[in-house]
Amino acid sequence: MSKLVVKGGATLSGSVRVQGAKNSALPILAASIISGGESVIHNCPDISDVDDALEILRYLGCRARRDKTKVTVDSSELARTDIPEELMCRMRGSVLFLGALVARAGEAKISAPGGCRLGPRPVDLHLRALRAIGIDASENEGSVRCRCAEYNGGLVFLPIPSVGATENAMAAASRARGTTVIVNAAREPEICDLACYLSKLGVRVFGAGSSTVTIEGRKTLNKAAEHRLIPDRIAAATYLCCAAAAGGKAELRNVCVLDICPVIRALREMGCEISRRRDSLTIVSKGKLRAHGGIVTGPYPAFPTDAQPPLMAASVLAEGSSVFTETVFEKRYRHVPELIKLGADIEVEGKRALVRGVNSLRGCELKAEDLRGGAALATAALRAEGETVISGFEYVKRGYEGFGRTLSELGAQVVEID
Ligand code: UD1
Repeated sequence: MSKLVVKGGATLSGSVRVQGAKNSALPILAASIISGGESVIHNCPDISDVDDALEILRYLGCRARRDKTKVTVDSSELARTDIPEELMCRMRGSVLFLGALVARAGEAKISAPGGCRLGPRPVDLHLRALRAIGIDASENEGSVRCRCAEYNGGLVFLPIPSVGATENAMAAASRARGTTVIVNAAREPEICDLACYLSKLGVRVFGAGSSTVTIEGRKTLNKAAEHRLIPDRIAAATYLCCAAAAGGKAELRNVCVLDICPVIRALREMGCEISRRRDSLTIVSKGKLRAHGGIVTGPYPAFPTDAQPPLMAASVLAEGSSVFTETVFEKRYRHVPELIKLGADIEVEGKRALVRGVNSLRGCELKAEDLRGGAALATAALRAEGETVISGFEYVKRGYEGFGRTLSELGAQVVEID
């Protein structure tokens, strides 16, 4: 079990580079099997979710190797089309292999994906999307099977703009005989990144980033592709929240500022000064924050649900009351009881959480229950008096590259223990 030990009270200063996007890495690594050639992916974060994706690729018969943040996948040999439960249950992103396997081999068999327990996370929309493009997809006792050697593409309507379902549909549609139109597609920046990678394979994708994405399938794809992942907007948002909470001045490099506008807006409302220079952001926080005007999470371009826990952690010491409304996941407040142990005053009622600012927090033993919630506990602990020990830190390692190291580089007193 991994732990993070935080000695609170240090203000932050310095400059750090933000990792590549986890939520781009996972769909693009899965899609690397489609072409049957070699893909070189740069800026790939060194996180355990990526390690798990590479393990799935190797299990399927591909050659996958990492050299720091450069990952090379050779998918010329695909030995199998099933993924066992032991590999599937490590992360939610494993479900993204479904569309890619069908595109490559015409069949796939996977068990239910794992990932953070944020409430029900069904795959009905993924299956519905695949069926709409002509793939025979069925679910039986948690295991999903898809079969279809030839499919024509079609009109996919998503009742909610699911990120994963959009990505699975895009991957599968890339080898369809005809054109696929996804209506009410997710608009997240990671969708655009996947579209960019697929277009390097020779697939024609239009409209990524808007709610209608059109994919013209191709039977023969380019064998070689080289792609650089976009910066991780959630990691950037998290480190901004850390600096806001701890106080000080921090520069984040390799940031796409447009992708985190709602987070920047909230932190400015709280009294932080945030300035931009090319792909860097500098945040200055006096440490004493005020409540923001309320945030409501939602699909992009709304406030990202993944940034809600770190922003809440930064809000617990703010002057006044902050209201959070979580609309994406049912159980996205699992960090709240732990923040309360630190001394926070938070009331949750259904989708809403009311945070009343307190004057101080006191370090104690905490347990991370999920990836972003774990990062939130560390964010609050930066301002707690004394020492906070956060267990379950392996959740955080799923998505943040060198989280403890990055905070140390910014002057925080943190130690990661394995
Ligand atoms: C992705 C991100 C995750 C982020 C989430 C929302 C990855 C690897 N993960 O997750 O970090 O928190 O987007 O921005 O990119 N739903 C259904 N049926 C389905 C699929 C989804 O009901 O078949 C529901 C979910 O329960 C949830 C909502 O749709 O309430 C949004 O989920 P979705 O956009 O699919 O999130 P993920 O792709 O799982």
